[in-house]
Amino acid sequence: MCYSVAIDGPAGSGKSTVAKMISKELDIIYLDTGAMYRAVTLKVLSENVDFNDISSIKGIVDSISIDFKGNSIYLDGKDVSEDIRSTIVTNNVSDIAKLDYVRTKMVALQQKIASGNNIIMDGRDIGTIVLPDAELKVFLTASIEERARRRFDELVNKGKDVDMEVLKDEIARRDKIDSERSNSPLVQADDAILLDTSSMNINDVINFILGKLKDRDLI
Ligand code: DC
Repeated sequence: MCYSVAIDGPAGSGKSTVAKMISKELDIIYLDTGAMYRAVTLKVLSENVDFNDISSIKGIVDSISIDFKGNSIYLDGKDVSEDIRSTIVTNNVSDIAKLDYVRTKMVALQQKIASGNNIIMDGRDIGTIVLPDAELKVFLTASIEERARRRFDELVNKGKDVDMEVLKDEIARRDKIDSERSNSPLVQADDAILLDTSSMNINDVINFILGKLKDRDLI
C-alpha cells in the first residue's frame, strides 16, 4: 500500500528543506507544490499579463507544461529552478496562487503525480485539499522573526544584499494573502500535527516526522 505525507505551513517554516531530506531518507517522491505556483507566476510575469486579465491567465495555465526532473523544475521544457526563486516571483506568487482557475489546475496535477506513489508533498493546502487522506499530516510553523532570519541567512549565503525588516514585511504580506484567500487558504487540517520549529534544528524536525511514520507502521 502507498502512503503520502502532507507538510503544510507558512513561508519559511522549513517545509521544503525537511520534505526534501525525508524523501531522500525514505527514497520516496518529493513534490514542491509552491514551485508549481511559482512557475505559473514566472510565465505570467514574463508574458507581461495583467493579474486581472483572467482569460489570458487561463490560457497560460491551459497551455503550460510543468515537469520535475530530480529536484529541478522545467517550465515549457526549460529549467527554471533558479528563476522561480527570484524576488519578483516571490513577491507576486501569492496573488497568482489565490486564483481559482490556477488552483484547480495545479491541484489536479499534484493529485495525478501523487496517485499510486509513496510521496511527501509540501505546500499550504496539502492536508486540507490536495491529499485529504494523507497517512501523516504535519503543520510546521515558526515565529515570523525566526522565519525571516532563515530566509535572511539563505539569501546572504547566495551573496544577496538583504534587509531583515524588508524580509519580515514581505513574509508577513505573503502569510496574509495565503491565509485570507477564499480558495483553500493556509490553514491547519483538523488531523494534522502542529509543530513549532522556532527552536528546533532540521534534524530534530526530521526525526520527529520519521518517528511519527514509524509509530504508524508506515516505514
Ligand atoms: O512555498 P513557497 O514559498 O514556494 O510557495 C509559493 C507561494 O505559493 C506561496 O505564496 C503560497 C502558494 N502556495 C499555495 O498557495 N499552495 C500550495 N500548495 C503551495 C504554495
